[in-house]
Amino acid sequence: MAEQTLSVFSSFKLHSDKDYYQLMKSMQINRREATLVLSELLGYVGIDDFYHGHRVGYIVWRLAHELGYSSELQQELIEAGLLHDVGVSSTVAHSLLTATMDVPNAVQHCMTGEAIIRSIPAYAHLALMVRYHHDHWQQIDFEQVDPQQAFYSNLIFLADRLDVLMAHNPSATQSEQEWLVERLAEQSGLMFAPEGVEVLRLATSKRLFWAGLESRVVLNECLKNEAVQYGDSTLDFTGLMQIATTFSHVVDAKSHFTHEHSQFTAQVASLLAEKAGFNEQKVEMIQIAGLFHDIGKLRVPDEILDKTEVLNTDERKKIEFHSEDSWHILKNMGGLEEIAEWARMHHEKLNGTGYPRGLSGDEVVTEARVLVIADIFQALLQNRPYRPPMELDHAMKIMRGMVSREEIDEELFAHIENHHDEFHAAATS
Ligand SMILES: [Fe+2]
Ligand SMILES: [Fe+2]
Ligand SMILES: [Fe+2]
Repeated sequence: MAEQTLSVFSSFKLHSDKDYYQLMKSMQINRREATLVLSELLGYVGIDDFYHGHRVGYIVWRLAHELGYSSELQQELIEAGLLHDVGVSSTVAHSLLTATMDVPNAVQHCMTGEAIIRSIPAYAHLALMVRYHHDHWQQIDFEQVDPQQAFYSNLIFLADRLDVLMAHNPSATQSEQEWLVERLAEQSGLMFAPEGVEVLRLATSKRLFWAGLESRVVLNECLKNEAVQYGDSTLDFTGLMQIATTFSHVVDAKSHFTHEHSQFTAQVASLLAEKAGFNEQKVEMIQIAGLFHDIGKLRVPDEILDKTEVLNTDERKKIEFHSEDSWHILKNMGGLEEIAEWARMHHEKLNGTGYPRGLSGDEVVTEARVLVIADIFQALLQNRPYRPPMELDHAMKIMRGMVSREEIDEELFAHIENHHDEFHAAATS
């Protein structure tokens, strides 16, 4: 795992060597779990179909295995398959990608994905596989693109298109599955590399291949226990922070109204945690919770997030479930259980009027109360579809009202009262 720290961390507080060592020791995250969780998170953009990334990772693994690739290369291809659509956070963009076999303007999410993957040192070596995963084989300029990298990318393209065809034909019989493969094979030398098509024919001729696509249990088992063998490798604290920051960008990119919301919420939350006297490790964990708190929003359709009129009951229900979704995803990463709980509580109110569970009083733990206040404070100062950003005075007045109705923690809010300029800067720049 690269030691390099990204420029996006320039605002993060540096630790003494001793503190940092302790932090890293206590925050080891299993890389296999992290990659699978990130893939599942990206799947949220598919709203009800969470496992596109998993299936593409699985298919490309079977192809790599058939090609006799080394286990290291197989791992790289699986990871690239799991994360290939990291450039897609809009539900509208996602449905366009699955509507037709050959997608116009697909290059946009490939370029966005490449930039995102490059910004995470642990995954940066997969950037080119992500970049070319919709390029037609016959159109690739091999003077510009390394033919081997282009071939790996094209295998992901092939796996991706097979999964899309399968999604349109979920209960295909064996002969229909063969027919689907032949539809892809017609594009040999055009969309797909002939060698890739041949290996797809070979792999799909075995019943075992289809088991992982027909059963989610088999798919998950294969990816967890068989295909993804880097179970012992870990991501350290820096790696986790980089992933959290990157994924906060993915969520924030979903709507221009929430641009940088997670980043700024994390800044406010860590500043508030510091003022409230939390130890350094807690401050960092709260910062990570701030970055991750809204990831469940990936599953909320774009048109609801961007709606300027009042939401109807159904739409409200969908949006009010996002904190629960954030928890669902995060709790699967061993070591993030507490952070997952705080994220789950970031819309609860102390008087029980929050959502989704309507917790009250001590049920909302202090770390979550920090997050609640940071989230509200930042959101009030930011543009929303239904109102412009508020002046600081106006936002403070609204939050004082929340304190008097016992919705948010009075003692914690006092820190914002006492240092409002500092908090304003953290929330907006
Ligand atoms: Fe894609
Ligand atoms: Fe895809
Ligand atoms: Fe939220």
